[in-house]
Amino acid sequence: MAQRSVRIGPSILAADFLRLGEHMAEAEAAGADFFHVDVMDGRFVPNLAIGLPVMEAVRRGTSLPIDVHLMVADPAEWIAPFAAAGADSITVHVEADPHLHRTLRSIEEAGATPGITLNPASPLVLLEECLPIVHQVLLMTVNPGFGGQTFIPASLDRIRRVRTMIDTANPGCALEVDGGITARNLPRVVAAGADTIVAGSSVFGPGAVVAEAMANLRAAVTEADPE
Ligand code: DX5
Ligand code: ZN
Repeated sequence: MAQRSVRIGPSILAADFLRLGEHMAEAEAAGADFFHVDVMDGRFVPNLAIGLPVMEAVRRGTSLPIDVHLMVADPAEWIAPFAAAGADSITVHVEADPHLHRTLRSIEEAGATPGITLNPASPLVLLEECLPIVHQVLLMTVNPGFGGQTFIPASLDRIRRVRTMIDTANPGCALEVDGGITARNLPRVVAAGADTIVAGSSVFGPGAVVAEAMANLRAAVTEADPE
């Protein structure tokens, strides 16, 4: 099988917020394809992170696409504000929304591309009905809420199964992964079928040099043997 093209998006959650603009510029110069913005409300996940003022600043700081990951209990309420603040894609958790179809339509109406995401314990069948109308499936490879966690190994099999679902139902849909991605596990993650990679700590974390970290991730992508 031909190697599919793989996009890498640093998660700003792991950046030094005192020098967020510099960190973003370093990542962009090192070839970042997009930025991932984690929104947490302290209810859907046990943490608070990144509201609209920071989102607006991130928008001013880059022309790259901004990928918003809503980890909130009422995602429908936050679509219009984050789209207006400059989100290019908005991803909502299937576990958080009983009216997912309507919410996904509202993302398109707001001018962004819709995505759906699943926690590690959620059955993949929850993706099925909305898969044909989304541009992105985000598979969480850690339990959401915090950066710097360890990749859950069972995620590899889930990535393979979602790859098959996407190839059947919506081949243009991106398969994004988020949580604990490193240059070490990335070859297996890409071989399993992921094409859109979120990386927080491995790009911005303590001890990481952004340019080197991005180069290591890019090199790891090319090591992936298609399965
Ligand atoms: C976790 C967030 C992730 C996080 C990833 O809830 O959704 O986007 O920033 O960070 P790392 O790569 O450190 O696991
Ligand atoms: Zn995220």
